[in-house]
Amino acid sequence: MQTENKLILAPLAGYTDKAMRDIALSMGADITVTEMVSAEGLARDGEKTKELLERADGEKRLVVQLFGPDKDPFHRCIPNLMEYNPTWIDINCGCPVPKVVKTGAGSALMKDKKKIREIVETLATETKLPVSVKFRLGWDSSSLNYLEFAEEALKGGAFSLTLHARTRAQGYEGKADRSAFSALSKEFGKDAVLYASGDIFTPEDAIECMEEYGMDGVMFARGAIGNPFIFRETREYLSNGSYTLPSISERIETAMLHYEKMKKYYGENIAGREMRKHAMAYIKGVPGASRCKKALTSAITEEEYRDAFSLLEE
Ligand SMILES: Cc1cc2nc3c(=O)[nH]c(=O)nc-3n(C[C@H](O)[C@H](O)[C@H](O)COP(=O)(O)O)c2cc1C
Repeated sequence: MQTENKLILAPLAGYTDKAMRDIALSMGADITVTEMVSAEGLARDGEKTKELLERADGEKRLVVQLFGPDKDPFHRCIPNLMEYNPTWIDINCGCPVPKVVKTGAGSALMKDKKKIREIVETLATETKLPVSVKFRLGWDSSSLNYLEFAEEALKGGAFSLTLHARTRAQGYEGKADRSAFSALSKEFGKDAVLYASGDIFTPEDAIECMEEYGMDGVMFARGAIGNPFIFRETREYLSNGSYTLPSISERIETAMLHYEKMKKYYGENIAGREMRKHAMAYIKGVPGASRCKKALTSAITEEEYRDAFSLLEE
């Protein structure tokens, strides 16, 4: 199905906070998704949980991703959820982390497809908001049930599906199986907005998923960490058939802007510590990166970040 939201910043726990979403939108992302948010935590009014739902300055639209084991916490979190006016609600059925799976949430939902239908139904009827589902190929290679799972989600009323084309057993390793995108689009391309996820690291990857495998859009995940330019590049590629890579100085200036935004949203101490992993990603492959990385391991202030980046060779 056609959508105006083709290029999405994927949910990335520990990364897609207000600052990263803000930068991605400024580089051309159509819309962004929160980090995964516990439906139970939200139902219980958890302050830390609610912080994850706050908008960045000027962020008009935001997808909220929730996780939970069955419809009960999803139902109970609705009053708190609605205060944040989500553009749509996404349900996490892909998280492989044992702490989450143990509770029956994340990719464990793929083991009992009846539950996804109930969860979607609960959210769609009680909130009247659009609901989407993000899931994997299946639990492991002997239980590839993504097509049946997608069908249940659609029966519950989901308007959109995102397939991360790996199994839970694969985690984030191994190659994403793009042939599954074709199977999904053949089966449900007319009924739902379909997004591809998994190994989308370049504009070429994104276009291939859309043009060759029939997906309506893509979610950039690890490919957008330290690389918000991928949104601009993909837009350029879609309109001209070519794109320009950022210069080293643009990478540094964007990383500094990212730091500034983190400082504005979270204060210098949190920004200083949390920015390090982003900064390391911004300088990946740049000559002098190893000296810079060493300096970044203790950087906190703007000056320390600037000094670390000055060790790069332009
Ligand atoms: C650090 C990290 C955090 C993630 N957090 C979430 C999350 O909160 N919710 C979710 O649905 N997927 C999450 N994912 C999965 C990504 O959204 C994406 O589906 C996956 O990384 C595959 O895409 P890629 O191979 O292009 O990175 C996470 C992945 C990584 C690497």
